[in-house]
Parts: sequence; structure tokens; C-alpha cells
Amino acid sequence: MRFDHFSIVAPLYARVTYSKRDVMREVAALPAKGCLLDVGGGTGRVSSAIRDLIDDVVIADVSLGMLKQTRFSSSLRSVCGASESLPFPDDSFERVIMVDALHHVINHAQSAHEMLRVLKPGGILVIEEPDIRTFGVKLIALAEKMLLMRSHFLAPEQIVKLIENVDKKIRYKDDTAWIVFKK
Ligand SMILES: C[S@@+](CC[C@H](N)C(=O)[O-])C[C@H]1O[C@@H](n2cnc3c(N)ncnc32)[C@H](O)[C@@H]1O
Repeated sequence: MRFDHFSIVAPLYARVTYSKRDVMREVAALPAKGCLLDVGGGTGRVSSAIRDLIDDVVIADVSLGMLKQTRFSSSLRSVCGASESLPFPDDSFERVIMVDALHHVINHAQSAHEMLRVLKPGGILVIEEPDIRTFGVKLIALAEKMLLMRSHFLAPEQIVKLIENVDKKIRYKDDTAWIVFKK
């Protein structure tokens, strides 16, 4: 079991807002009917920003400390669980997103396959990640290493290869990449 750095920063994290709603809205084809799963969703920073664009939202995260800070708690359901073994049946969600969390998981490929497994046919999976090829993100990666966070960033071209045999595309803006898979 790894030390949960996020439990310590959770109260601060809960104050940070999500500024990329417009791009997420576009790449995840929102608004949509059904349920969205936010994997590594933490305090609900992203989920709360897009809550009005979908019928239902569930956050899954390994950090109880982050989940305890979930905002809009009456309209966001949360589950403590790891992306590598999501506690949901196959084909459960219309949308699955993971924002700024892939570099924190233990197993990237297993997490990607789990997110695809719980996505309904015709659904969309969006992985938003800081683009490690940019200077600013390289500095963040260095800082996280110094904090012993064991982050492991993949370049967008590596993330897109985690899942084969589905439609996929990458959208870039500033120092962020959105890798989009359609099941
Ligand atoms: C940088 S925070 C991002 C939180 C949220 N997605 C956001 O953008 O505000 C990364 C989150 O990933 C979670 N996390 C790390 N490894 C995970 C895993 N294997 N499964 C699920 N969540 C994980 C952490 O607990 C943390 O809440």
C-alpha cells in the first residue's frame, strides 16, 4: 500500500477550480444522457464543473481523504476504489473520464483497460493528462519525484497506444492533452 499524499493536500485541492470545461465538453461530447464515471476524480473538482451536462456522476478514487472533500456531495456519488480494478460491471457508463490522474496510478495499461471495460458500447473515454513533452510539465514531474510521489508520466502518443482496436484521437491545448477513445 502506497502512502496517500493526496489525503494531506485534499483540503487545498478542494479549493482549486477546473478551467478546461469547454474542451472537456467538446471531447466528451457533452451534454449527454446517462451516467459519467470520473476515475481518480478526487474532490470532484472536474465532476462538479460538468455536473450539469449529464444525468448522473460517480467519482471513483483510492484516496478517502480526497473523497471526503467532495463538493456538491448530494449530487455526486463517490466510491473508494482503484482504477486498476474498478468495482463496476462491464458496460456500466455512458462516459468515463480521468483527469490529471493517469500519471499517479500504479498500472497504466490495466487502468486504461478497466475504464474501457466499464464503458458502454458507443460510449466515450477521455483521459486528460499534462503533456510531459512540455517544459512546465517536466518541472512538475521533477517536483513530484522530489516529493516521492512516484508519478510516472506517459507522453500522449504512449497513452493512445494503451488501448487498441477502438476509434481514438488526441486533442492538444497549451500544456494539456486529451486522449479520447470511442468504444
Ligand atoms: C492530481 S489528483 C486529480 C484529481 C481530479 N481528477 C482533479 O483533476 O481534480 C489525482 C487523483 O488520482 C487519485 N488516484 C491515484 N491513483 C489512483 C488509482 N490507482 N485509482 C484511482 N484513483 C487514483 C488520487 O487519489 C487523486 O485523487
